[in-house]
Amino acid sequence: MEQNISYWDSLADWFDKKQGDEGDLWHRALINPTVLRVLEAVDGQRVEDLDCGNGALARQLARRGAEVTGIDASARMTTLAERREASNPLGIRYHTSGATQLSILGDASFEAVVCNMGLMDIPYAEGAMAEAGLAPLGI
Ligand SMILES: C[S@@+](CC[C@H](N)C(=O)[O-])C[C@H]1O[C@@H](n2cnc3c(N)ncnc32)[C@H](O)[C@@H]1O
Repeated sequence: MEQNISYWDSLADWFDKKQGDEGDLWHRALINPTVLRVLEAVDGQRVEDLDCGNGALARQLARRGAEVTGIDASARMTTLAERREASNPLGIRYHTSGATQLSILGDASFEAVVCNMGLMDIPYAEGAMAEAGLAPLGI
């Protein structure tokens, strides 16, 4: 497991409260609209939300018709995301896994992978991108 996960486990309850169901103001006003515009239509698509946090973006994607799988290395974070899924089911599946070891997904494939505000927290981001089947953009 990656080195910063106990840190995220300890922050998870605060983060879930801050993010709420649809993300904090910063996510709602700026980040998520941009991500959703880049992804374009997700209706009927299988989307992997890598480093999904409390699932705030995953839920927006599911509400737009995507079949969403959320991955986060913090077990406490996926527990809180699952709790929100249980109280308002959208068919989102969550897994606790480090982004560089996605064997938990088996041979699952996705039309899109989104990693929102996540790569900067992963010590080996190139490994996470390779594991997700993405080529580095060189930025
Ligand atoms: C800044 S939060 C972003 C969460 C969410 N994507 C959002 O925008 O609200 C970063 C998330 O990445 C997760 N994370 C950190 N390192 C990770 C890793 N190596 N693999 C998977 N998830 C990781 C943390 O547990 C945390 O939930």
